Amino acid sequence: MKTPTTMLHLAAADVRRALPMREAIAAMRDAFAQLARGEVTLPPRLRLDAPGEQGVALVMPCHSAAQKLFALKFITLFGRNPQQGLPVIQSTVMLADGTTGEPLAVMDGASLTALRTGAASGLATDLLARPDATTVAIVGSGVQARTQLEAVACVRRIERAWVFDSLPESAARFAAEMQQQLGLPIVVATSPAAALAEADIICAATTAAAPVFDDRDVRPGTHLNAIGVFHPDRAEVPAATVCRARVVVDHLASAMEEAGDLLLPLRASLIDEAHFRTELGQLVLGQKPGRTAADEITFFKSVGVAIQDLCAAARALANARELGLGTALNR
Ligand SMILES: NC(=O)c1ccc[n+]([C@@H]2O[C@H](COP(=O)([O-])OP(=O)(O)OC[C@H]3O[C@@H](n4cnc5c(N)ncnc54)[C@H](O)[C@@H]3O)[C@@H](O)[C@H]2O)c1
Repeated sequence: MKTPTTMLHLAAADVRRALPMREAIAAMRDAFAQLARGEVTLPPRLRLDAPGEQGVALVMPCHSAAQKLFALKFITLFGRNPQQGLPVIQSTVMLADGTTGEPLAVMDGASLTALRTGAASGLATDLLARPDATTVAIVGSGVQARTQLEAVACVRRIERAWVFDSLPESAARFAAEMQQQLGLPIVVATSPAAALAEADIICAATTAAAPVFDDRDVRPGTHLNAIGVFHPDRAEVPAATVCRARVVVDHLASAMEEAGDLLLPLRASLIDEAHFRTELGQLVLGQKPGRTAADEITFFKSVGVAIQDLCAAARALANARELGLGTALNR
């Protein structure tokens, strides 16, 4: 008789300790490779609106044949929450054994989401940014912006960063915190143009519905990660930048549903679908090339896919067991 596996609960602090950014990036390499090899069952995510509440819940299930695991993420986004001192994004992730169905873990999904979203941009930056990139502009200074900078700093020798946010006090908090965490000089920029002026890498991680910088401020040779938009009618990246960039998406089917940054220029016939047919996993597997010229603009657009949560959660759980983190739950 098999002894039932102890189910673990990992709180936000456990997830962060169990999943250092470097390991999160390695987990994303594996996640996107599995996706590109077609080893993942990934139904479109289910969206439940809360009418009148400016809130939405997303339900994201996933199965990995390679890891023999199921994952399920329940994530809510409520834009007015900060007025009550609550975060916009709250989430829980569940993992279950793919051979017996046994539940293995429940964990804080907000910290996991921030880690895996940053880590996906870290992986894309590693595969696409110029090897000599040393400067970063971060547009947005919320939860995701922090892990975007942390991840980029894991894969390139970053010497200086600029941050711009439409809320200057938020940008100032970001600069103070991240400077301490990463030991980097971080300048609060007074405009997107000032943030981008010397940037080799740009990360857009905002809740904006319209482009957050001007195309003319994007220098040749820049690598751009944009993770904020997951709505077909919104964009945080200018269409002109999309047109002149080599675009890589996290998952084509999801991008076709949600990546307004790409769908708006597509609908305006400024680009065709072939312009964004490359997935990050194809770069990982060497099926398509990364950057092809020093002056090329490369653009990684992510809307987020459930295999990222599965791989990040699996790695966090394995490490948590080893480190004795988390709380055992009775079943
Ligand atoms: N792609 C993914 O996998 C993924 C994962 C998680 C979150 N997201 C998305 O990322 C976005 C950011 O999430 P978050 O948790 O960091 O939110 P957050 O509320 O913590 O931060 C968003 C920040 O964007 C700033 N902002 C809004 N409009 C701006 C503008 N025009 N210029 C500059 N700054 C602006 C806000 O002031 C705020 O500081 C959300 O839209 C979220 O849905 C994507």
